[in-house]
Amino acid sequence: MAFRPRYTGLIERYQERLPFGDDARIISIGEGNTPLIQLQNIPRVIGKEVEIYAKFEGLNPTGSFKDRGMTTAVTQAVSEGSEAIICASTGNTSASAAAYAVRAGIKAFVIIPDGKIAQGKLAQTLMYGAKVIQIKGNFDDGMRLVKEVVDHAPVTIVNSINPYRIEGQKTAAFEIIDELGTVPDYHCLPVGNAGNITAYWKGYQEYSTDQGALKAVVNKRPIMCGYQAAGATPFTLGYMVDEPETVATAIRIGHPQSWDSAWAAKEQSGGWFDCFEDVKILEAQKMLSAYEGVFCEPASATSLAGALKDIASGKIPEGSKIVCTLTGNGLKDPDTAIAQSAIKPSTVDAELGAVKKAILDSL
Ligand code: F0G
Repeated sequence: MAFRPRYTGLIERYQERLPFGDDARIISIGEGNTPLIQLQNIPRVIGKEVEIYAKFEGLNPTGSFKDRGMTTAVTQAVSEGSEAIICASTGNTSASAAAYAVRAGIKAFVIIPDGKIAQGKLAQTLMYGAKVIQIKGNFDDGMRLVKEVVDHAPVTIVNSINPYRIEGQKTAAFEIIDELGTVPDYHCLPVGNAGNITAYWKGYQEYSTDQGALKAVVNKRPIMCGYQAAGATPFTLGYMVDEPETVATAIRIGHPQSWDSAWAAKEQSGGWFDCFEDVKILEAQKMLSAYEGVFCEPASATSLAGALKDIASGKIPEGSKIVCTLTGNGLKDPDTAIAQSAIKPSTVDAELGAVKKAILDSL
């Protein structure tokens, strides 16, 4: 009997809402279906009556939300006969593209800013066997080069300017509505290249107006809140930034590609963009770990940092239902985590007395 793979990913789950027929060869590693974790301690710590949920996208197969868009982009690329894919990346897209290329049996080329991607992401991308091209420039330079090189080489772009990426990523909004049984009041996201805010908005629009999906929530949509690091904040400035800088290297982007669609999401939803210093991002990352047991990468915590700022000021009122997307796993960037940990491991002799003392001293 011929080997027929079982698919467990989001294309199969939401096939009727995605542009693939029954005969498509689906390239999947079991992405999507990530947990929506209600934060139990942080609302108490900040003394506010709010329901905050973390959509933990760090639990996708390569540890970030990119897998949602990569299953669809690579499925489409393969169906068109493509034998190689390419992306510019701050790290997560490259890891995801590399993994899905392996799964499909095609080649992946990734362009990354030299020395500016987190170690976990580089490790993954190398292990998946992608051809890694480090450039002496930033993500925006990489994006420009990718767009140029496709005119000179037979490669398919799998950055979020590829519309199939957005199709896959919109399913995160479907999952949230399915799980909550309603639409949240606010949806908070980190914004970099702005593909994800574009995708969520598309997903919310499609799903919440679908009479068949959830009659109770017809026509309700969340207010979209897009947050950036102060050193890389074209959306709050309203113009492109040439030398973006932030500890949250995933969103170290000054020339976002999905500019117009991100503004549309903000305006149509009645939302806003905001930014804050890196220290606030790291504080939020720490709070998630220390109070909730959820370890995300720095860029991901930008969503919670923004939500906390807006809850504190009352812009997001008490009684609200808020979803914060945590875009990537904390294990992606061990260096930043270790550097900011106040508690360092203590080393003692391997004998009972020393271990007992270490415990009793800390109680
Ligand atoms: N969070 C993480 C962890 C990311 O890796 C990215 C983007 C974003 C947020 C922002 O999402 O670009 O859709 O607005 N990372 C891309 C990459 C740029 O190459 O991995 P966006």
